[in-house]
Amino acid sequence: MSRRPVLKTALPGPVAAALIARSDRVISPSYTREHPLVAERGEGVWIHDPDGNEFLDMSAGIAVTSTGHCHPRVVAAVCEQAGKLLHMSGTDFYYPVQGRLADRLVRMQPVRGERCRVYFGNSGAEANEAAMKLARWATGRKHFVAFLDAFHGRTYGAMSLTASKARQREGFGPFLPVTHTIYPDPYRMGPNATDQALDHLENLFRTICPPGDVAAIFVEPVQGEGGYIVPPADFLPRLRALADSHGILLVFDEVQSGMGRTGRMFAHEHFGVRPDLITLAKGIASGLPLSATLASEDIMRWKPGAHASTFGGNPVACAAANVTLDLLEESLVENAAVVGARMQEMLRSAVGGHPNVGEIRGLGLMVGVELVLDRATRKRASELRNAVVMDCFHRSGMILLGAGQNAVRFCPALTLSEQEAATAVELFATSLNALAPV
Ligand SMILES: Cc1ncc(COP(=O)(O)O)c(C=O)c1O
Repeated sequence: MSRRPVLKTALPGPVAAALIARSDRVISPSYTREHPLVAERGEGVWIHDPDGNEFLDMSAGIAVTSTGHCHPRVVAAVCEQAGKLLHMSGTDFYYPVQGRLADRLVRMQPVRGERCRVYFGNSGAEANEAAMKLARWATGRKHFVAFLDAFHGRTYGAMSLTASKARQREGFGPFLPVTHTIYPDPYRMGPNATDQALDHLENLFRTICPPGDVAAIFVEPVQGEGGYIVPPADFLPRLRALADSHGILLVFDEVQSGMGRTGRMFAHEHFGVRPDLITLAKGIASGLPLSATLASEDIMRWKPGAHASTFGGNPVACAAANVTLDLLEESLVENAAVVGARMQEMLRSAVGGHPNVGEIRGLGLMVGVELVLDRATRKRASELRNAVVMDCFHRSGMILLGAGQNAVRFCPALTLSEQEAATAVELFATSLNALAPV
């Protein structure tokens, strides 16, 4: 029998409810927290709450626990490192695990140029801040271009790039100078989505955004928070050429799409094009806070003291990242490719014909299902999407997230087995069919 979630109480159960009430009294109300889930412990793709309920986690802490919750080898490496050295600040001193990790990332050559360097931070937003500062420093230009519906983080620079939800910007301006342009969505824009997107960007260059002022274009190779949108195959190569023609640096934000999630170590490998800078976080250290910004040696030439962070590249986080890379390289990138493809097939056969399913898409274990009111108009079924996500939780004990206005996203640990994927698809289909009977 395959393992399934177990619900012993209505959610939240009594112990979880008390913990939630206490948290809600004292923690910032800016958190979204739609699921009344209290995670007490986890293993693989399974989460336990304090009332004895067991959940199937198809969210991986928002695409972070790439090796599964508490992978024994990650836990062992963290414990070993914690016993040796917890902190020393890589900004001022050296320690072995950080150099080892940087060396491994550099050898993966995820950016253009013969040799590259790594800057370590603690979060995706920090990685993008570093990329913005470095791009300005290296080009002497001040302006940026980013894409509508993209999410790059919530610190001032990263928030200025972010164009995902107005709530995330409301009341916080003024922002850094960023011009936002259209991301090519093949489902909504059709087969010439790249032409439309790049025509729009060239119009912006011609009218309000002089390209000679632009330091960098920030783009997600697969748009994450925007709805798990995979661009057409020619988009990134043509964007690369356009950026080059104006001397603009191209930054790939692979905070969500990187570290094996799409079935390749980096999502841009699917498109045969490398950026000038890349930003990584989320899955890089299996849940410990760590991010990396990589750029070629020609670009990363800023002076000592130009940028640093006390905790960035902390020894324990680097130890977790080194084992995470081992696990990804040994089998998990491959597993993401194989199980992700199987999962899309299973979704197609379970719900592909459902009238509210507009598109099933994705790469590896970055899988989205776009829900629509009807297939002819493709009107977005945002309420149905929200209801399905919550129904999966309350009815079945499956943790799912939305992405964009009306997509459901599956971003589980890359350890997901075919059996676990089959269970997830079955539970999703049950909720969809219950809320939107055919
Ligand atoms: C593509 C992308 N970039 C940046 C970020 C920001 O990362 P963090 O929340 O670690 O600052 C996210 C977070 O969801 C993301 O998906």
